[in-house]
Amino acid sequence: MTNKSIKIISVVGARPNFMKIAPFIRAIDSWNLTHPQAISHMLVHTGQHYDDRMSRVFFETLGIPDEAVNLGVGSGSHAEQAGLTMIAFEKVLLAEQPDWVVVVGDVNAALACSVTAKKLNMKVCHIEAGLRSGDMTMPEEINRLVTDRLSDLLLAPDRLSVMNLLSEGICEDHVRFVGNIMIDTLEAWRETASALSPEKIVSENLMAGPRQTDNGGRTEFARYAVITLHRPSNVDHPEVLGPIVSFITGEAARELPVIWPLHPRTLHMLHESGLYEQLCGCRNIFLLFPVGYPEMLRLNMSASVMFTDSGGLQEECCVLGTPCLTLRSTTERPVTLVKNGGSCVLTGDRVSRIRQEFRRIAGANPFVKEESPAGRESFRPELWDGETARRCVGAIVNYGKEERKQQRQILRPASMHTVI
Ligand code: UD1
Repeated sequence: MTNKSIKIISVVGARPNFMKIAPFIRAIDSWNLTHPQAISHMLVHTGQHYDDRMSRVFFETLGIPDEAVNLGVGSGSHAEQAGLTMIAFEKVLLAEQPDWVVVVGDVNAALACSVTAKKLNMKVCHIEAGLRSGDMTMPEEINRLVTDRLSDLLLAPDRLSVMNLLSEGICEDHVRFVGNIMIDTLEAWRETASALSPEKIVSENLMAGPRQTDNGGRTEFARYAVITLHRPSNVDHPEVLGPIVSFITGEAARELPVIWPLHPRTLHMLHESGLYEQLCGCRNIFLLFPVGYPEMLRLNMSASVMFTDSGGLQEECCVLGTPCLTLRSTTERPVTLVKNGGSCVLTGDRVSRIRQEFRRIAGANPFVKEESPAGRESFRPELWDGETARRCVGAIVNYGKEERKQQRQILRPASMHTVI
């Protein structure tokens, strides 16, 4: 360490960023306790997600300090969001002159802010680097590719991601295997979430729908499914969303209560297509506003099955052992799949396939409630240990200082050593 403090600007834009930045900021604070004033940090919010329930509540719950600057970008096309972010973020960078810009995940903020910083010759660090779905129709895949190509320091969550980066020709001196920072937040909140009641979460966040279950009208969740959808490929086209909704109302909800926290994009599309009424008219469906982090974690812990197209939930299901039907035909997170030891299966959006996997889970697990929310079999990929944020901060502070030889040993798949 030199005596000069390192100035970091980190960026958030949308809901999945908040769970990743919270442990990172905590790790900076811890670092500064033992290395006084070593790092000065500033948080910038692009404002892509702006509702209280999609943004502010996560700051309050996860203890994220208020952002120093909100770029106020809001909704819009991808070009509008990226363009407005770049114009506003450039002004912040010129005024602040940080040593590092840290971006997380694959939302539009990561792409826009990494491009802006690199054009000003500033160093960029990408947390969650190297994930690849291979699907160039996904906006997030474009964001991942561009952000990784431009980043000086690429912090990968698993060894497959490391291999993706190396096979794209990224120099191994720039890549570190640090583990999954989302799991830092999961572990920090596991105990608190366990104490919450699913019944209370549902009643406090209920948007609409009959408050009746199969057990005579009492709202009691001895067993339940959870569903979340938000990807444009699933929710923007009624010919895709309609059959999924019909499967949920006509089949899944006949077997067990279905709890569905609705993303704003999905709610909008359900209204547009008239499907919202179909859901409201169905017994055993509980439509919720977007719920907070501990609440979602609690619902996940005891869910008999999760239907989702969220990458973060795939990872959380894997660590919690929740059977997860991923309504996508590709994933950038193959480490979470059953064939690799995880709990997720790719079903795509075809109902026949979703039904087949739903039946398979129902056969293996007749939707009986677990004795303890923590008590089921789970899978923890290497370095998904709750300590990733500390490794991220260490990698930034030590950037350029480690010997190449040592780093090469660490990245080789045969080597199973902890990185930092
Ligand atoms: C974004 C991310 C996605 C991430 C998801 C998590 C990109 C390309 N996509 O998708 O990777 O998994 O967030 O939530 O960055 N809206 C509101 N209130 C809000 C935010 C959005 O009503 O607080 C509405 C917007 O008006 C818009 C829709 O929701 O119509 C979608 O928002 P958008 O910013 O396009 O991204 P997401 O679909 O949320």
